[in-house]
Amino acid sequence: MGPSIIRTYDLWKQYEDEGRGGMALRGIDLEITKGQIIALFGKSGSGKTTLLNLIAGLDGPTKGRIEIDGEDLAVLGERGRTLLRRKKLGFVFQFFNLLPTLTALENVLLSLELAGAADRRPALEALALVGLSGKEGRFPHELSGGEQQRVAIARALVKSPPIILADEPTGNLDSVTGTQVLDLLVRRCREAGATLMMVSHALNTCEYADRILRMSDGRIFEESSCEGLAP
Ligand SMILES: Nc1ncnc2c1ncn2[C@@H]1O[C@H](COP(=O)(O)OP(=O)(O)O)[C@@H](O)[C@H]1O
Ligand SMILES: [Mg+2]
Repeated sequence: MGPSIIRTYDLWKQYEDEGRGGMALRGIDLEITKGQIIALFGKSGSGKTTLLNLIAGLDGPTKGRIEIDGEDLAVLGERGRTLLRRKKLGFVFQFFNLLPTLTALENVLLSLELAGAADRRPALEALALVGLSGKEGRFPHELSGGEQQRVAIARALVKSPPIILADEPTGNLDSVTGTQVLDLLVRRCREAGATLMMVSHALNTCEYADRILRMSDGRIFEESSCEGLAP
């Protein structure tokens, strides 16, 4: 096994305003190795998005510790976590989250700029790699859902981050487009050597993964095969 890139120690999360007084995460111990492709399954409300948000340093745990590339998120502080997010993490969301007033190219450039280097050439290359050459000047509303998600993939990968977090990246796409996007996302991450952690409801995601994790009631279970996911 290679070096670990994501590490959590006894991670707990309770939202202050959570009505039923439950815990969103109940003691998550996770070690993810550089370059692994992880599929994270689980029913709605099981804690998947909470776990990704904590790994991204967007929210803090109630208890426990997170290390990203050897750095303790609590020790980094707010500013350090923001810098880490900009440089080391790429995000792909269910609803694409592109800025509507920026073109495809500008959306990708912005991500580079925030990471500390705004260069047209890598941005154009990233869009070419997701099959969007010729559409760089289009605004999000001038692109199909699948194309918008490909811009989001280019935006995530352009800064060559070691980690990509994807929360239901195909959740808003039809199944054919979803499979194409999934295929592209995994292929580009493998080529880049990026670690990919993707939350999904689509069972075919399982076939792309090196590791299969399932969340249930704030706990995490490792599955040895896709069969383990069958209801
Ligand atoms: N911002 C929040 N405030 C209060 N409760 C939340 C918040 N976000 C999520 N929860 C609760 O935490 C639990 C886990 O939610 P979430 O991580 O979104 O699950 P999933 O992504 O697996 O659907 C749920 O019970 C949900 O209602
Ligand atoms: Mg979610």
